[in-house]
Amino acid sequence: MSTTRLLLVEDDPEDVAIFRRHLPESSQLTVVTTLAAGLAAVAGGGFNVAFVDYRLGADSGLELVRATRATGNPLAIVVTTGQDIDLLGENALLAGATDFLPKADICTSAIARVTRWAMIRQFAELKRGLVISEAELREIAQLARPDRAGAAVSPATARGTWLRQVAYVSRAVTPFNAQSLTRLCARAAEGNRRLSVTGVLVSAGQSFLQILEGAPEALDVLLKQIQIDPRHDQLTIVADQLARTRHFARWGMGCHAREGSVRWTPSRWQVLTERLLKSVHEDDPLAALPAHYLEQVSLLAQGQDAPERMRQTR
Ligand SMILES: Cc1cc2nc3c(=O)[nH]c(=O)nc-3n(C[C@H](O)[C@H](O)[C@H](O)COP(=O)(O)O)c2cc1C
Repeated sequence: MSTTRLLLVEDDPEDVAIFRRHLPESSQLTVVTTLAAGLAAVAGGGFNVAFVDYRLGADSGLELVRATRATGNPLAIVVTTGQDIDLLGENALLAGATDFLPKADICTSAIARVTRWAMIRQFAELKRGLVISEAELREIAQLARPDRAGAAVSPATARGTWLRQVAYVSRAVTPFNAQSLTRLCARAAEGNRRLSVTGVLVSAGQSFLQILEGAPEALDVLLKQIQIDPRHDQLTIVADQLARTRHFARWGMGCHAREGSVRWTPSRWQVLTERLLKSVHEDDPLAALPAHYLEQVSLLAQGQDAPERMRQTR
């Protein structure tokens, strides 16, 4: 089962200890104790769910919820509190929290359940309201042509043992133009060739969508580098799964810039991810794909064993 990365924003050491004691087995916990540190951690990205205390000293955890939503960051956020459960729970949801957990209810099964549902709710949210025109879909499909890069890995490497495939969205700190993006992708392709990593990077306005695939150890190293790259922030992983075959065997780092004033919401990115994967599948016989990413996200969210499920869905 894949690891679920949880962030806890909590200023009371006793409550931190209780949460730690009840941490579900497959979870990895990062704790910060102030609103400012919570905001920085959320902006840094890489978490599946954030648990945020309603009261953080003089600050309110709701400020973190509002600030996160204001930037369009879809991270699942669960607000916790020990007091005024009914009123504060309602406030939290109205502010944009994904769920609410009274501190008195905190135990391993409650954390696991709330985490799972928060991830599923986030996934459902991403899929809702996907109104995207035919013209846009055609344009997006054009983006998905394996081009330029040529064969990035040999077919033998492409059919190796388990690969990790990760899709994330992030926000460019300063917008990239076509030239700087091309330069970034060329450097990325160079680095990726050394690691036998393949993938695609799409930018639209200030948003990035990147899909990376390679040996799990290689991706661990690369993702750590990418996560701390100061040129972007708010990195949110939208898919993380294991697979037997590559989607992007021919792309060292396929690179596409989308111009336009359309606001790229997480749901639009999600459509684009689906579309990219689908067209690559149609175009590339190597990509005898298991169920597409979004199903996998939801399966992982339900705590299913990804490789086993993927064998079933082939
Ligand atoms: C959006 C984005 C995507 C990136 N993708 C990759 C990548 O796929 N491969 C890579 O090696 N570096 C990538 N980078 C660059 C890394 O973050 C980092 O700068 C690089 O790995 C460091 O290599 P260097 O020490 O040789 O400059 C990316 C950076 C950004 C901002």
